[in-house]
Amino acid sequence: MPKQPTEIEIEISTLSEQGSGGGMHNERPVWVRNALPGETVRARILKRRGGQRFADGQPLENFSTDRVPSACSYFPRCGGCATHHIAPAAQLAHKQRQLADQLDAQGIAPNSWREPVALLRLGYRRKARMGVRVVGESVLVGFRESFSNRVARIDACATLTPELSKLINPLKACIAKTSDAKTIPQIELAQGDSGCAVIVRHLQPLTDGDIALWQGFEAECRVEVLMQSKGYDTLTPVSKNRQQMSLLHYQIPEYGLTVGFYPHHFTQVNALMNRELVRTVMGYLGNQRGRVVVDMFCGIGNFTLPLARTGALAVGIEASDEAVEMARRNARVNGVEHASAFYAEDLYGEGGALHPIADKNTLNATGINACFEHFSQSPDALILDPPRSGAGPNLEGWAGIPSLKQIVYVSCNPVTFAEDAKRLEAKGYVLDQVGVYDMFPGTSHVETIGNFVRSSGAGFD
Ligand SMILES: C[S@@+](CC[C@H](N)C(=O)[O-])C[C@H]1O[C@@H](n2cnc3c(N)ncnc32)[C@H](O)[C@@H]1O
Repeated sequence: MPKQPTEIEIEISTLSEQGSGGGMHNERPVWVRNALPGETVRARILKRRGGQRFADGQPLENFSTDRVPSACSYFPRCGGCATHHIAPAAQLAHKQRQLADQLDAQGIAPNSWREPVALLRLGYRRKARMGVRVVGESVLVGFRESFSNRVARIDACATLTPELSKLINPLKACIAKTSDAKTIPQIELAQGDSGCAVIVRHLQPLTDGDIALWQGFEAECRVEVLMQSKGYDTLTPVSKNRQQMSLLHYQIPEYGLTVGFYPHHFTQVNALMNRELVRTVMGYLGNQRGRVVVDMFCGIGNFTLPLARTGALAVGIEASDEAVEMARRNARVNGVEHASAFYAEDLYGEGGALHPIADKNTLNATGINACFEHFSQSPDALILDPPRSGAGPNLEGWAGIPSLKQIVYVSCNPVTFAEDAKRLEAKGYVLDQVGVYDMFPGTSHVETIGNFVRSSGAGFD
């Protein structure tokens, strides 16, 4: 018999960044999912680490006024979401507070705050990686359980789009019929505006029977199934009729753009909120007609393409060769090839470092200098949209470009955003406006956009 988790009664005094309620028990901190400050909860201890305890809970008394009934019956056991028990306005306030605390810790005081932006609360998530687990006769497909490696038992997911959510049970049924379900550890789901794709990771070669099963799933569920034996370079359509995987697309209607991508490419998971991000970034940049704007960490061109569409000379830089190739294709298909250029470069590395240009003849020398000079004109503005680790070691060099007037920074991590804000301030930039965008409602993820404007001239150091 597996050991039953210890249950304790605990008073909650704080709310963590991850959305867990915090309290003390036997002089140790306990972090409880589904618990809010002021509440007394019954907590099941699920994990012990470094003197701390992690639990899920049920409120017993003193219910918080911020509490709402969860829209998801699998919360808090399923670890896919963190804050379904918190009223939407309180979730937003919590996210904004985290950002404010980080900025405060770095001594950054924005000139103004934009009202937090929230759109769809549920059914927004267009991408997901889910675990697969065989338990006796059953196959589970889902996110990990809270504080555990186990796959949660779910039949649907309220955060996924309805189209992706309804694939969960057919996936379980299909995997259960394969020759060896234990050799399928993971499924990835991706959705575009007019179709869905499923990536099936498999550790052993597929039998003819397995292939037939997945072809049947594809036809029945009207999705594209891609089999993946190792890295993403092994992705292969299960259908014998297709040599290549099909492109998915999303629209950015305000700019008349159709953006193509493959299911494994980085795309913003919340399509509606992505349009809001693009609108906001473009709004901050204003009219850039005929001016050079560099989109750092550009992916498949999510911001570069709208810039080029509105008359800017847009340069996108990104580490992934595949993403750059897709960005170029997207520029071509949308008729903005002439106004855009894309380069593959590791922006954290030496190649991403901008060197002082002493002599015009050295412009095409190496690395990022060539990208910046593509249109033979220095940039007026930068967009930064880095991974969680932030803009990286070359930020000061980019910020020091004499012609630069503005940096619009899109961030998925308030900690690195605030650290980078401090570095930009030291280079003469002021955080003119900042705001949070609820890209992942129901989770602890905080998306931020900050508009930095130059307050004093600064050249290369
Ligand atoms: C948050 S995504 C933003 C993508 C794009 N701006 C968008 O909105 O879809 C971050 C991007 O940075 C890229 N990236 C990660 N590390 C990088 C590096 N060292 N140098 C350049 N790009 C990098 C990733 O491939 C990814 O496309």
